[in-house]
Amino acid sequence: PVIYAITPTYARPVQKAELTRLSHTLMLVPNLHWIIIEDAEDPSPLVANLLKNSGIRYTHLTAATPKEWKLKEKESNWKKPRGVLQRNTALQWIRNNLKVDVHRGVIYFADDDNSYSLEVFDEMRDTQMVSVWPVGLAGGLMVEMPVLDPKTGRVKGWNSAWQPQRPFPLDMAGFAINVSHFLKHPEAKFSFNVARGYQESEILRHLTTPDQLEPKADNCTKVYVWHTRTEAPKLQSEKDLNKKGLKSNAGMEV
Ligand code: UGA
Ligand code: MN
Repeated sequence: PVIYAITPTYARPVQKAELTRLSHTLMLVPNLHWIIIEDAEDPSPLVANLLKNSGIRYTHLTAATPKEWKLKEKESNWKKPRGVLQRNTALQWIRNNLKVDVHRGVIYFADDDNSYSLEVFDEMRDTQMVSVWPVGLAGGLMVEMPVLDPKTGRVKGWNSAWQPQRPFPLDMAGFAINVSHFLKHPEAKFSFNVARGYQESEILRHLTTPDQLEPKADNCTKVYVWHTRTEAPKLQSEKDLNKKGLKSNAGMEV
């Protein structure tokens, strides 16, 4: 099966560093197709060149978040969902380009700022419907994860502390979906019209029930992905330069 890794991304000072780090991980994953969706009207040379030079099989899409849903610079990040339109654009590409039982594959939402061990890709590859595993540094915990019934080995609950009443209280990085299974459920997508933290539940409710989930990562005892977030760099001196019409990076891509 091919892993279709779906990555929304947006222009900011750390974008190239994030995408370089992620691409250098994905280069090591066999049989992977990277679907990268820029939150922008037009594709950028930065992303286009990075993809071309990576040698990874890819599809480069764009989908600009409508103004009313775009986070403002100083606005708290939890006020608005991120990546909704971009992930839906990638999912539509999958529906338009892949066929049930012809294209054997797995869908994974790989945000550009997380940290991935190669093992997480091995684990997800044989997903039959929807698989799940622990995510480090997520939901206010060292690890947020499914809790298994020791007798049946199935998911019987979650250890989540943040909004544990959600139908699927897990992070975007903690599950994968079989492509054929996904194609059979045309309603499965993300939505701006759900409460915060409910994006994962919104797509998964169309695709599975908690007891059907396939636990991975050694019965959910291993952490192979971390919900890391990159601090925005302090660029005051750069702003001072800009006021004088200067840039430290004139003619350089950073
Ligand atoms: C958490 C989850 O890990 C995300 O999967 C979820 O989308 C997000 O919350 C949410 O509540 O919407 P967090 O680290 O806070 O993640 O979100 P980001 O990593 O900042 O954004 C998720 C993805 O969307 C990233 O790949 C990012 O590059 C992209 N993004 C972010 C955009 O495309 N446009 C934006 O304006 C912001
Ligand atoms: Mn993130």
